[in-house]
Amino acid sequence: MVVTPEISRHTAEVSPESPWNAYVRQDRVHRTLYTDEHVFNEEMVKVFGHTWVYLAHESQLPEPNSFVSTKLGLRPIVVTRDRHGELHAVFNRCAHRAATVCREEAGVAKSFQCPYHGWTFKNTGELVGAPWPQGYGADFDKSKFGLGKVTRVQSYRGFIFGTLSESAPSLPDYLGEAKPWLDYWIDRAPDGEVIVRSAAHRMGYRGNWKLAFDNAGDGYHPSFSHRSLLEMASRMGDSKDMSYFGKTPDDGPMKVYSLGNGHSVIDQRPNFEGPGSIWANQRPQPGREKFEELIRSKYPEDAERLLDVSAGAQINLSIFPNLLLIGNQIQVIEPLGVERTQLTWNATSIGGVPEEVNTMRMRTQEDFPAFGEPDDQANFEEVQRGLAVSEEEWILMNRGLNVEGWQTMDENGVVVTAVTDEIHMRGYYEEWLRLMNGEAK
Ligand code: FES
Ligand SMILES: [Fe+2]
Repeated sequence: MVVTPEISRHTAEVSPESPWNAYVRQDRVHRTLYTDEHVFNEEMVKVFGHTWVYLAHESQLPEPNSFVSTKLGLRPIVVTRDRHGELHAVFNRCAHRAATVCREEAGVAKSFQCPYHGWTFKNTGELVGAPWPQGYGADFDKSKFGLGKVTRVQSYRGFIFGTLSESAPSLPDYLGEAKPWLDYWIDRAPDGEVIVRSAAHRMGYRGNWKLAFDNAGDGYHPSFSHRSLLEMASRMGDSKDMSYFGKTPDDGPMKVYSLGNGHSVIDQRPNFEGPGSIWANQRPQPGREKFEELIRSKYPEDAERLLDVSAGAQINLSIFPNLLLIGNQIQVIEPLGVERTQLTWNATSIGGVPEEVNTMRMRTQEDFPAFGEPDDQANFEEVQRGLAVSEEEWILMNRGLNVEGWQTMDENGVVVTAVTDEIHMRGYYEEWLRLMNGEAK
């Protein structure tokens, strides 16, 4: 390990080649990145389009001809499996006069018939036919009027991503140093079998989509934003889940890792020691005591592992720009407008464990989205309100910069630092800037 400064860029001038540099400096970003519709519209093309964006999980479309409706930025899309099981992503936009052709969230369909005038498309996008074809001239060529396609769709161990960029690196290269963390998260399931539950916890807030990303890797806020939750946890004893955020967390064993390509992770696991310790330190949950008794009596050999996977993964993995793995949940950031965002929390089950473990996982997954997330969303809305002060131009992300002894870099370029370092913001804004400036990797 060598001590090294993380990013040395200073950008103050607007240049025609890099018009966005004036908005992102090493230690701060400009407020208009959160308030300006023009910026938002550019992001929807250049960030949500020119890099890999999380679309869906394979377990949401398990069989041939199944599909799930989702979005790529503002573009409605349908991720489909064809009859051979191959994945596709088509724009949910009729080639005739632009109506969405699929209005279901998920299901099984070999084809989609547009509800407006009945044009029908295969689940791979090709136009099957338009009603009453005698109304079209001899030059009408069906092969020209298929649904548009997301040009590159790839899955990494069940996580499906798409991009419209031909020049973006391969998905595994883009995930890069985030891959081992994603692998850890997936491999908590025996044989890596993760199943996204059919329903989701959805919350909308009046604020910019990046506020969710700013917060996801932020180890600075929990002590203050989630005070009521921490007070409750500390009443139960010193080591209860998350209470470690409340006591000068930079002195503790937790770290944040800047993983490159805009990705980052907070590792909470060093707060727990040995098998069974994650479970032992959970906050109260309905049925917890009965469940533990049952697991210990039915599976005495394997009880600690089963109990630990019933609790959260204890990492917060942020994959730029829209995928957050928090505990056992997959959270997706969906921008709706410059000041409107939807967050979807998908709960997950895992294969290869007794049914009771998944029941308990559901209790765990009801906890933070219901108890902690409203604190965060209230902050997002209050930041957005504060941003209306146009005379105050900057949002700071300078915590941890030039602090001696905090940052170390490993041989792969991953920077590890104290958990309240705002390195996660500086890291993703570097990627944001590259995309907005249209610079090659
Ligand atoms: S808009 Fe789809 S058939 Fe007319
Ligand atoms: Fe939070």
